[in-house]
Amino acid sequence: MNNELQSKEQGPMRFLVFSASLRNDSLNTRLAKLAARVIEKNGGKADYANMIEFDCPSFNQDLEVNNAHPKEAEEFRKRIVANDAFIISSPEYNGSMPGLIKNSIDWVSRFRPQPFNEHHALLMSASPSMGGGNKALWGLRMPLEHLGARVFPDMFSLATAHKAFTAEGTIADETLAKRFEANLVAFMQLVEAAKHYPCMKKAWVEFLGEQPDPVTERVE
Ligand SMILES: Cc1cc2nc3c(=O)[nH]c(=O)nc-3n(C[C@H](O)[C@H](O)[C@H](O)COP(=O)(O)O)c2cc1C
Repeated sequence: MNNELQSKEQGPMRFLVFSASLRNDSLNTRLAKLAARVIEKNGGKADYANMIEFDCPSFNQDLEVNNAHPKEAEEFRKRIVANDAFIISSPEYNGSMPGLIKNSIDWVSRFRPQPFNEHHALLMSASPSMGGGNKALWGLRMPLEHLGARVFPDMFSLATAHKAFTAEGTIADETLAKRFEANLVAFMQLVEAAKHYPCMKKAWVEFLGEQPDPVTERVE
């Protein structure tokens, strides 16, 4: 692969990375921080964010007076737009995503232009359970795809995550660690290709089952 992952004019690919958990000792925050390290190791630029920056008051359409948005929604919007792609590591709550991340997505979906549209996303999760929180990601995929985000097919879920990390914050199991890095690198390559080679972007949209046609193009 292109180990530099950068265009001469524009510098390295930029990835917003955050965990959808507010918990101090969050397993997803550990996984997100590891993802940021792996991105930098492979030539990308990680913009690491804390969920507290994006956590909005409960959505209420009555609050949208004169196009008003909470400052946290504005921050989330800004960071999505400032990066080439975003990566969320999300806990699983009761078989789906935590309400707070859906709430932030709902707020951000109200901006125009709608910031998720055509932005690439990679989803990951960590949980003490054997499922690794994977069901949360299927829940999370739905609103993001609805909003036109290009959600990468491969997702990474870390099972028994409370026992999975080394003291240095890496994944202890060598095979899993390799798989985690390979998943990230495949995503990085796609983001780079989509940014610099429009033909790849067209192929990707078709792969997702959409024909590039103005009539059926995802609308805001
Ligand atoms: C309200 C709630 C519901 C949960 N439901 C699930 C679940 O459905 N599946 C699961 O694997 N873990 C579930 N858990 C356990 C979380 O995976 C665990 O608390 C995890 O550490 C949360 O992520 P974090 O460490 O990043 O904060 C739940 C936890 C809470 C607080």
